[in-house]
Amino acid sequence: MQTHEIRKRFLDHFVNAGHTEIPSASLILDDPNQLFVVAGMVPFVPYFLGDQTPPAARATSIQKCVRTLDIEEVGITTRHNTFFQMAGNFSFGDYFKREAIGFAWSLLTNPLSQGGFGIDPTRLWPTVYLDDDEAEGIWRDEIGVPAERIQRRGLKDNYWSMGVPGPCGPCSEIFYDRGPEYGVEGGPEADEDRYIEIWNLVFMQNVRGPGGGKDAFEILGPLPQKNIDTGMGVERVACILQGVDNVYETDLLKPVIDVAQRLTGRTYGAPDGSADDVRFRVIADHTRTAVMLIADGVTPGNDGRGYVLRRLLRRIVRASRLLGSQEVSMGAYVESVLATMAPSYPELAERGAAITATAVGEETAFLATLAAGSKLFDDAAVATTSAGKKQISGADAFTLHDTYGFPIDLTLEMAAEAGLTVDEQGFTELMAEQRARAKADATARKTGHADQSVYREFLDRGPTEFTGFDELVSEATVLGIIGAGSSQPVATPGQQVEIILDRTPLYAEAGGQTADVGSISSSAGARAQVTDVQKIAKSVFRHVATVQAGEFAVGDVVVAQVDPRHRRGATQGHSGTHLIGAALRQVLGSGATQAGSLNRPGYLRFDFRAQSGLSDTQRGEIEEIANDAVESDFPVNTFEAGLDEAKAMGAMALFGENYGERVRVVEIGGPFSMELCGGTHVTSSAQVGPVTVLGEASVGSGVRRIEAFVGLDAYRYLSRERALLAAVSSSLKVPSEQVPDRVAGIVERLREAEKQLEKVRADAARASAATLIARAQRSGSTLVVAARLDDGLSAGDLRGLATDLRGRLGSEPGVVALFSAMDGKVPFVVATTAAARDLGLAAGSVLGEVAPLIGGRGGGKPDLAQGSGTDADAIDVALQRIQELAGAAG
Ligand code: ALA
Repeated sequence: MQTHEIRKRFLDHFVNAGHTEIPSASLILDDPNQLFVVAGMVPFVPYFLGDQTPPAARATSIQKCVRTLDIEEVGITTRHNTFFQMAGNFSFGDYFKREAIGFAWSLLTNPLSQGGFGIDPTRLWPTVYLDDDEAEGIWRDEIGVPAERIQRRGLKDNYWSMGVPGPCGPCSEIFYDRGPEYGVEGGPEADEDRYIEIWNLVFMQNVRGPGGGKDAFEILGPLPQKNIDTGMGVERVACILQGVDNVYETDLLKPVIDVAQRLTGRTYGAPDGSADDVRFRVIADHTRTAVMLIADGVTPGNDGRGYVLRRLLRRIVRASRLLGSQEVSMGAYVESVLATMAPSYPELAERGAAITATAVGEETAFLATLAAGSKLFDDAAVATTSAGKKQISGADAFTLHDTYGFPIDLTLEMAAEAGLTVDEQGFTELMAEQRARAKADATARKTGHADQSVYREFLDRGPTEFTGFDELVSEATVLGIIGAGSSQPVATPGQQVEIILDRTPLYAEAGGQTADVGSISSSAGARAQVTDVQKIAKSVFRHVATVQAGEFAVGDVVVAQVDPRHRRGATQGHSGTHLIGAALRQVLGSGATQAGSLNRPGYLRFDFRAQSGLSDTQRGEIEEIANDAVESDFPVNTFEAGLDEAKAMGAMALFGENYGERVRVVEIGGPFSMELCGGTHVTSSAQVGPVTVLGEASVGSGVRRIEAFVGLDAYRYLSRERALLAAVSSSLKVPSEQVPDRVAGIVERLREAEKQLEKVRADAARASAATLIARAQRSGSTLVVAARLDDGLSAGDLRGLATDLRGRLGSEPGVVALFSAMDGKVPFVVATTAAARDLGLAAGSVLGEVAPLIGGRGGGKPDLAQGSGTDADAIDVALQRIQELAGAAG
């Protein structure tokens, strides 16, 4: 059965049982604690917690999920996909265990003719949580599964949460027995490869607190109601129903493996080809994950989500190379994923070209990195050899890994090709140190997260009312005061606390707009200055404030006030961002979608997707269009709408919106700009004031950044520029309009002068080369040109001269060794002719002999090596030693 059919049967089964079908949410939701959506229930967390009312009491979805913790397992085990589709049915306070078990069982075992999957019931093994007699009873007595096929398991296996504070509950998992050829008898307790988990039914009933691991957290208490959250692995069911060996060979991924076979010329499933097979599977799995991530707005980068994507793409390039491909192959892999996935995800067809461009761009960049890394590798290999060693140091392997993204097996393989080994233990130690640093960092972040439990009572009371769209001063009640991570009844002068109000006009940082600043005061004379406002779980505002006078107590009625100047600047910045965004899309087309933004008073930053930079003309046009929109004094309208309705009107949506949500639309000048946005804005575009684009640059593959000043800051910027130009024009003594010509003239003359100088230096060098050659001495059969040059020559000059001298020695056995001394440093170069190398005089080894004499080090290739020492007084000894070495060579 094809995956498409599995998806359809799943949804039909649950829609027929009264569930509302909900489309998959984006892989990226606006939650800093979750890199990606890891389960079907993630978009529904507020419904489980009772923070929001669900659109229906019964829902079903097939959610895109990404889990990359087990990335190293991909292709090695038979069941780990980094991207997978989780099919789920959900009950929000509606049905519970009995129905959930019944629904799952009937879909799995009903005959194909009745819409089921037709799985042989004797192959299914349920598990239940240790003390869940109720679930076990249902499986045994109502469904009829023999008691010996039901296993009880502990917290680690049968108690599910997202791994962070939030909803959780005991679960019952359904495993499929793939048969004796896959492992030993004994159910999932004995072997999870033979008995493969296909469906997890979570009886979602509690809230958990912070804590690491799958079993080290506290249950804080029950959820407002009992819920059901289930997840069936579409890929795993496809693997079973398609009778294939593993999740990489299903109808969705096998085509990618086929493309890889064609491009690399190797065969998947060849006898003894298990290492190759893993690479094929990595290509298939990772390409699909990368495509789905890019489609949801992730771009390759060096941290967070961007890094995960970069790592996936690099692992694809690497696997492809190890399969023998020297070609760029990413485009073909991506195309095949787009073809298999687009029927279920139409957005892939729409954005195919941009997705391919991003992935291929990263491949090209990584190939260049590989080339640069290869050079470092070559240098390390030469240094190792010329030091008479056979082992590349752990530090070099680590640098290759850390800086150039070389996986250790690549280094090992290249070393083996060069007849060398690698200090793997040293490498592992350095990696462990790095991991320890990363872990310390992650722990610090988790602790930050753990502190959030203090907000729980406020989250339970519901969202803070934001009054700041309409007013800058509001009366409010203090609901809570938090100091040093815990609730306190009062705040006294000098204390820095977080104040939680029932309503507030102060904007909390979101959507690129920085938080408002302002004050909170009471009629009893208390006053606090608010320096930051942040949201907890997108709903409760916490005001970071310092008490300046009087006391605040929980329950006080206060007045919260926004600093109007700050707000005015921030709204100018935010509306300016919309103007720039609209202008960009006019100039570059609708593909230039937003990838992030920041607005603070007077300044804006807008990141957008584009493969190449803006031309000067385009930049000028964008600025002109934005300023024209200011001049037009467009009214700014805001209104609420359903997400679909807003999209249908043409509003630009970013990722992160949830199905069924009411969204806020900000419209400037009708069709000119319409965006989903929760920020604060000017009331007419003229209030943005002048918009001045500062510059545009790349901030990572496929993403560009444009920066601009707005309002008074734009004027100040222009005024500064004018002053600078005036200063230049006065020192050049020409009117400002003549400055460009004058500067161009000066630059041209400078270039001429540099050329002349270069020529003079070259003549001088040639002259000194001639003198040096004339003073060459023969040691044995070798001509030695060894000299100390004290004309302040740099290492580069020495190298040029040495190469020239070596050329003059022609086919003679010849050694050139030049030393210079300046500022306590002694740079030196050794070059040897081919005939000298035949006598055993490799430049690297000669250098290795003399470097210690002058307190230095260095390395290089057999024909040219260079280094630097510290002891200028010992140069004569070094020169002498070179003569001896040449003499000894014969
Ligand atoms: N949320 C449950 C899981 O991911 C169904 O396994």
